[in-house]
Amino acid sequence: MTGDFPSGSTIYFAEWIPVSLTYNYQTTIMFSTVLFSGLSIIGAIIYFIRYKYKKQLNIITSADQAREILKSDQYVRHISNAWLINTLSIVNPFTIHDKSLLKTFKNRVILILANWYKEDKYEELVFVIGKRIDYHIPLLQLNNRKLCLSKLVKQVTLDSFLTGVLNVNANDDLLTELPDLIIHLWKNRDDKKAQTRLKELFVNNNDQFTQSEIWQQIQTILSNHSSAISNMGINDFDEKISNPLNIIVPGWETMWRVVFYSLLELLRHPKLLEELSLQLNDQSTSSQNCLLLECIIKETLRLYPPTKNIYRTHIETGEEVRIDIQHIHHNKSAWGSDACTFRPDRFQEKLTDEQQKHYLPFSISCPARHKFAYIFAGAIITELIKYCPTFTIAEESMLPSTDKLLDVTRNSYNDLLILV
Ligand code: HEM
Ligand SMILES: *[C@@H]1O[C@H](CO)[C@@H](O)[C@H](O)[C@H]1NC(C)=O
Ligand SMILES: *[C@@H]1O[C@H](CO)[C@@H](O)[C@H](O)[C@H]1NC(C)=O
Repeated sequence: MTGDFPSGSTIYFAEWIPVSLTYNYQTTIMFSTVLFSGLSIIGAIIYFIRYKYKKQLNIITSADQAREILKSDQYVRHISNAWLINTLSIVNPFTIHDKSLLKTFKNRVILILANWYKEDKYEELVFVIGKRIDYHIPLLQLNNRKLCLSKLVKQVTLDSFLTGVLNVNANDDLLTELPDLIIHLWKNRDDKKAQTRLKELFVNNNDQFTQSEIWQQIQTILSNHSSAISNMGINDFDEKISNPLNIIVPGWETMWRVVFYSLLELLRHPKLLEELSLQLNDQSTSSQNCLLLECIIKETLRLYPPTKNIYRTHIETGEEVRIDIQHIHHNKSAWGSDACTFRPDRFQEKLTDEQQKHYLPFSISCPARHKFAYIFAGAIITELIKYCPTFTIAEESMLPSTDKLLDVTRNSYNDLLILV
């Protein structure tokens, strides 16, 4: 090393420095040491300041810690969800920090969903869903009885939610474009063209939504909290209050994923599909009471939770956390060595305390968690299987073998074709 710098050599620090500096060997060492220490100290100071003031992101993989954070008033979600206000114009309990809004909104949703628990109402829901499937399949069908499964699931789930739950008959533009627009904006939050198109779709369906009593009730709740919304410095808040995405996003974005991944697993497990079809065709049990179907949905929610991560920010320290729900769901000490295998049977028996603790697909408070999610997803899966007697993957499409988990990144299996 030292041999490279004979004493008295001229070091050009940069060609544009007009003076050449002459040093002997010792000065070089001293100068380097001082320079090095100086830079190190400055570096350490910068690092310390950034560490102190930068938002930290803590990843939570322990179920106990996750539950504590989800229960705590100190950890809020509106800060990490703030992008939803500008991108999707959402002003609901996910983006607005207000206790009264959360309580009233949630209670209303609980009442709306409870409407479907009675047997005769359930039959009505199944009927509505069946009609929506009947409508979409011919529109999506390619030649040779093939169709794109992800399009079918997204559109049927959205249409069933709008028709069945909100009582809104949206036009075809909205039903076919909205799903992929929302998914696109999730990834490309600043795409102004997509944002404009999204607004346009709702303007074009304004009359249909205005006629929905249920949507009007939700809108009234949001209007009643307009001061909380305007206090957060949100512009055009009146317009945002009348945005149906305030209810569509919580109700549909998660639901289509569980329907889609349940069907993908059934396509990979033909024996299971056959057994399920057999049970569903048995007139003595309604699909509302089909235990196998419920287990399939629960196992899908465990392996592929639609809300893979839940984000929270500490209201005082600004500390950010990402609760890794999927990691918690795959914990081997709770679920056993086959934790990453699709095995709906595990829900046939009562879960252990550890397993219950390690199961958080609905966080701790989603109003659909007790019953509605299973009824609604179950009804869609049942009707899709009934309407597609040869429900199989088309020969040109592929799924990973059953010893591997399905891919959960957005747009996975977007092009998968099935035979109907
Ligand atoms: C399979 C279906 C569903 C899944 C997996 C799911 C999942 C979740 C999760 C993880 C949360 C917590 C989010 C957070 O705290 O950041 C949540 C909250 C919520 N969900 Fe769901 N959800 C589903 C269906 C629905 C449906 C159908 C509706 C209503 C139409 C709905 C309405 C809500 C509401 C209002 C909240 C806020 C509740 C609160 O914070 O206390 N969800 N859901
Ligand atoms: C909205 O506020 C009005 C006046 O305070 C009240 O009468 C009404 O019940 C509220 N509506 C809802 C849906 O909370
Ligand atoms: C699984 O859960 C146990 C008990 O909560 C915990 O000690 C362990 O670290 C978890 N394993 C992983 C891989 O996170």
